Amino acid sequence: MPTTIIVGTQWGDEGKGRIVDYFAAQADLIARYNGGDNAGHTVKAEGLELGLHLVPSGILYPDKLCLIGAGTVVNPLSLLKEMEMLQGYGVDVSPARLKLAAGAHLILPTHRAMDGASETQRGKEALGTTGRGIGPSYADKARRVGLRAGQMHDPGTFAEAVGALVEAHNERLVRLYGLQAQPVDDIVNQMRKAAETLAPHLVDGASLVGEALAQGKHVLCEGAQGTLLDLNLGTYPYVTSSSPLSGGALAGLGIGPKEVTRVVGVAKAYTTRVGAGPFPTELDDDTGERMRQVGHEYGVTTGRSRRCGWLDTVILRYAAQVNGLTDIALTKLDVLSGIPVLRIAVAYDVDGERHERFPAEWGAEILEKCHPIYEELPGWEEDISEIRRREDLPQNALAYVTRIEALTGIPATFTSVGPKREAMIVNET
Ligand code: GDP
Ligand code: IMO
Ligand code: MG
Repeated sequence: MPTTIIVGTQWGDEGKGRIVDYFAAQADLIARYNGGDNAGHTVKAEGLELGLHLVPSGILYPDKLCLIGAGTVVNPLSLLKEMEMLQGYGVDVSPARLKLAAGAHLILPTHRAMDGASETQRGKEALGTTGRGIGPSYADKARRVGLRAGQMHDPGTFAEAVGALVEAHNERLVRLYGLQAQPVDDIVNQMRKAAETLAPHLVDGASLVGEALAQGKHVLCEGAQGTLLDLNLGTYPYVTSSSPLSGGALAGLGIGPKEVTRVVGVAKAYTTRVGAGPFPTELDDDTGERMRQVGHEYGVTTGRSRRCGWLDTVILRYAAQVNGLTDIALTKLDVLSGIPVLRIAVAYDVDGERHERFPAEWGAEILEKCHPIYEELPGWEEDISEIRRREDLPQNALAYVTRIEALTGIPATFTSVGPKREAMIVNET
């Protein structure tokens, strides 16, 4: 019966992978609900450090079922590579425990080529996508010309459908972008081979989830990206093409709202963003650089350096509202040790007026005019990475956490102080 949704509250990379890994101990089925291999989720546990892109972050628990849901877009070649990587570490990714929803859409090499071409065409206005073909694949889905994973069941018709879609993409690549056509037969063969391996993993995702819930099993929903990258409610157009919100979990997996028992918003103790777009609390100074170095703020997927800045509770309040958060999982608090004075954005100044709410729907131009109004809190010097009880935190670290709770109205039930599974402070009341 219980359904827990793990959602990013900022611009992604909040530490969702490690929080999912933590919660997976209590779950039966762990399901990714949105995005594709644009995601990079790090799990450090059992002596391993995994960078996962598509496979749910519960995969390290051998007795759990993992599902890549219908709301995702899957590059079959990336998925196979990831499965091989996991097999190399002795992780079981057999069809018995790793399932792929028939409704998930596929990403072809030509989607990736179009992603790159569209970014080049945008020039200075480029979004800074991950180049993984995410936008073009979701665009095909919305145009109702996409390829679904379930089509891999029938090799003959699948090969035909791949060929036809690649031809259509090639026409666009040549005509719109002045690029060379991609080799149709090669792509068809690659996909045909991938389909042979992946077909046994296919399931009706919504049925799998529905049956699990009917049997009283615990379903854990893993979001990719973050609230401000949401296609509807994020910082459009500097967003991804799916819905990372808790609502995206319902639509992407086929779960009714009444089933949801907990929505955990993962929030980094400061803020980061990769790619272009507004970022009110961004720091272009030594403190930002310090966060980048100490927090290893480099992308798991593209290796790009992440933009860093102060924590923004205007964003967190927005995330709390649009996701219906029940809890916050505050990550990377340890990274702030040693910064003498910490700042938290509590509101924005827009043309001399104080705004308490995040004006996402008004678009990038308004956000560029949002100047954070900060509150200052004293920092702490101590290394807190070995602390496991909230009451053992240095007084100023505890005050930082409780101030976030007061400013958002959401309990920070989980606080992580290091990347490994056990580096977690739990404060269940
Ligand atoms: P995700 O995309 O939300 O899963 O996050 P990423 O894996 O892209 O980025 C989070 C990074 O922070 C990873 O390198 C994690 O290993 C690391 N990390 C997560 N939680 C903590 C923490 O509490 N402290 C520290 N120092 N690192 C953490
Ligand atoms: P996880 O799940 C951070 C960003 C890209 C770009 C924008 C659009 O690891 O948190 P896309 O390739 O999706 O069309 O790019 O979204 N982006 C992410 N940023 N973490 C992610 O995933 C991201 N996935 C996409 O940098 O700005
Ligand atoms: Mg990431």
